[in-house]
Amino acid sequence: MAEQRKKTVVNSWNEWDPLKHVIVGRADGTMMPAPEPAVEWDFRKDGIPVGMHGRFPKEMEDKANEQLDHFAKILKKRGIRVDRPTVFDFGQEIQTPDWKQKSSFGCMPPRDVLLTVGNEIVEATMSYRTRWFEYIVYRPLLEQYFKEDPNFRWISAPKPRLTERTYKKGFWEEYHGLSAEEKIRRGRRGEWVHTEVEPLFDAASVARFGKDLFVEHSTVTNLSGIEWLRRQFPNHRVHKVMFDEEWPCHIDATFVPLRPGLVLQNRKRSPLIKDTSDLLKKNGWEVVTCAEPAHKEKAYLSHCSIWLSMNLLVLDPKTVCVESDEKAQMEQLDKLGFEVIPVPFWDVSAFGGGLHCATADVYREGKCEDYFPKQVEGF
Ligand code: NVA
Repeated sequence: MAEQRKKTVVNSWNEWDPLKHVIVGRADGTMMPAPEPAVEWDFRKDGIPVGMHGRFPKEMEDKANEQLDHFAKILKKRGIRVDRPTVFDFGQEIQTPDWKQKSSFGCMPPRDVLLTVGNEIVEATMSYRTRWFEYIVYRPLLEQYFKEDPNFRWISAPKPRLTERTYKKGFWEEYHGLSAEEKIRRGRRGEWVHTEVEPLFDAASVARFGKDLFVEHSTVTNLSGIEWLRRQFPNHRVHKVMFDEEWPCHIDATFVPLRPGLVLQNRKRSPLIKDTSDLLKKNGWEVVTCAEPAHKEKAYLSHCSIWLSMNLLVLDPKTVCVESDEKAQMEQLDKLGFEVIPVPFWDVSAFGGGLHCATADVYREGKCEDYFPKQVEGF
């Protein structure tokens, strides 16, 4: 087993520089979330009525943990330090002065909560009540990093109130009455359930390209959230991006940088803002369309789509971890010159995502670079 990094330094500017220290989530105690105004967890196709909630079956949880532990072992063997969150009881009722919620969610996807930009880790606001307290699972690690790295900047984005002002009144009643076409049109216009009363973002709405951060306006990240990130990172260029999807949530199964000059693009979700493609083109970046996913249906009880096929973890600009069922995706990456490490991970899907979701960067070698010296005005 390669020697793992002991010294704690928080540093990661992009999605591809050599990875040396990472957080990998856990499936323990994950809940099928109770109803709340931000989202409708719809597992009717899996035989579960809308609104049903409670802990995931133990057998599913064990299988997911087995794959997560195996993934952590693969990373450790390659000399990457792996830390894990500390679970709390996600089944307990939670409340703030403004609302009560029957349960939390879990802590499989640290990528959703923690945004690492250079020597800063930002705890995202999140936008679901079920995920309001999720930052707590990472606190033991963040406290440790704070003690061990004198340059680590630890930021908690303003906790949202998530009162009824945060949601459009009567949204769901109206939404259910819309035709499929109108739902698509609304998605294209960025009209979802959240208002702009307060900044909201999930960390997984951000794709990091050094000096440029691409932030997806979506069902979990509103325009105020993007504006908050813009002000938080004045030395970066924060680009609002959108993709053609009715209910977009998290950029990392849609628009995935692989190495300087190369992005993997979802074959069904093209950019809605032309400046995105213009910026890439102007700076000589190549965009490749992802391979066909191996699965035709999402995993049982999963809120994530089959596009987890492209939710991969780049270990360095020549090495990438891909879900082991995704043969076509692996082949494509092999042809693009990568060493591909197959990682069995499909059983983790229902717990909140794929290989990229299940991780959060602490240290990647390298510094902040400008990969887009030729900008597109106003983008
Ligand atoms: N919610 C998105 C992203 C998952 C990483 C999807 O299911 O495609």
